[in-house]
Amino acid sequence: MPTLLAPITPAVTRPEGVRVRPIPRVVGADVPVPLRDGGHVPYANLDYAASAPCLEAVNEAVTRALPYYSSVHRGAGYASQVTTGAYEEARETVRSFLGAWRRSAVVFTRNTTDSMNLLAHAVPAGTSVVVFETEHHASLLPWKRAVRLPAPATPAEAISAADRALRESPTGSRLLVVTAASNVTGELWPLGELARVAHRNGARIAVDAAQLVPHRPLDMTALDLDYVAFSGHKLYAPFGAGVLAGRADWLRAAEPYLKGGGASASVGPTTRWAASAEQRHEAGSPNVLGAIALAAACETLSPAWADVAAREEALVERLRSGLAALPHVRELRLWGDRAPRVGIVSFIVDGWNARDVALTLSEEHGIGVRDGKFCAHPFVRHLLGGERTAVRASVGLGTSEEHIDRLLTALAELAAR
Ligand code: ALA
Repeated sequence: MPTLLAPITPAVTRPEGVRVRPIPRVVGADVPVPLRDGGHVPYANLDYAASAPCLEAVNEAVTRALPYYSSVHRGAGYASQVTTGAYEEARETVRSFLGAWRRSAVVFTRNTTDSMNLLAHAVPAGTSVVVFETEHHASLLPWKRAVRLPAPATPAEAISAADRALRESPTGSRLLVVTAASNVTGELWPLGELARVAHRNGARIAVDAAQLVPHRPLDMTALDLDYVAFSGHKLYAPFGAGVLAGRADWLRAAEPYLKGGGASASVGPTTRWAASAEQRHEAGSPNVLGAIALAAACETLSPAWADVAAREEALVERLRSGLAALPHVRELRLWGDRAPRVGIVSFIVDGWNARDVALTLSEEHGIGVRDGKFCAHPFVRHLLGGERTAVRASVGLGTSEEHIDRLLTALAELAAR
């Protein structure tokens, strides 16, 4: 049967003998966009944290899959067999991308919000959930009851606050929910230490990795993480699939998230639900192209991490030092200036509201950024001390130095008005 996932891009040797892998390319990196004055410029997409463009390799994988597109787990025909094989192969690709244990569940969902809601649905009744108010709403809101910890002033304070809250939680199952990389500041959370604290207190840890996995590798086994959620649309696979990976027991014991075909093993006057976590929580025809796209992105990024991360760090340094040189711009951050982070930077511009900045950047310079509170209202309120909004620039594989410089020049011009 044909394999539908992406072939790995081979490394090339530069004349000076250094072996490098070409940075994976995105579709539409230079798409022209209109300006208010009637002209056009190549789009400077600085909004990767909201949704990243499609990787060329993802586009190719989906194109390869389409002729065979058929039902999954439901047909004996050749196309159904190929499609079912590709779907299950995608699951194994995601497992290996996350470094998940062989026996972990890897459930395909719609996105991170869906994954976190599935986990909230599956936690045993009475579970004590501890979450920081700095979370994206996807990880903040799904829990029936949760202790919300205030924004910690340092990573060390995050660890001690989580430790204390878990220790003081009622006896029974406990869950710590935390982001891997903030969608507001890009700052990385100390996952390994938080996992140790969770486990020392008899708790599990669930990680919202939506903003980390497009930028850096994540190894669930090495970090000892119990659950990880992420979205395909931020990982260069805009086909509507997400993932919840982790311990299978709570998922296997929970009522199906969606009840219907596929989730049931036998239906009569009573229903016996499927035993496997994946079947139980993937009722209905699954989003097979979404899963194939997501897996193709995983396969493309895995061998390229070193180059991807180094290139991104240089872009982020250029962006942050450029912003720091603009006296009317203030970057938002929770921790120190040098705290490790991914390519997400939020800021405010003195004398301007964020929506006007974002619209001016788009209409006069062809730059795409996000403005608002980024579905993280309590966190942005904490950072800004009130109901203000901010602008966010975020970088990815299609970002160039010219995009960063265009943003910095435009912000300098705004100040001069
Ligand atoms: N969660 C996405 C963001 O931060 C949509 O923009």
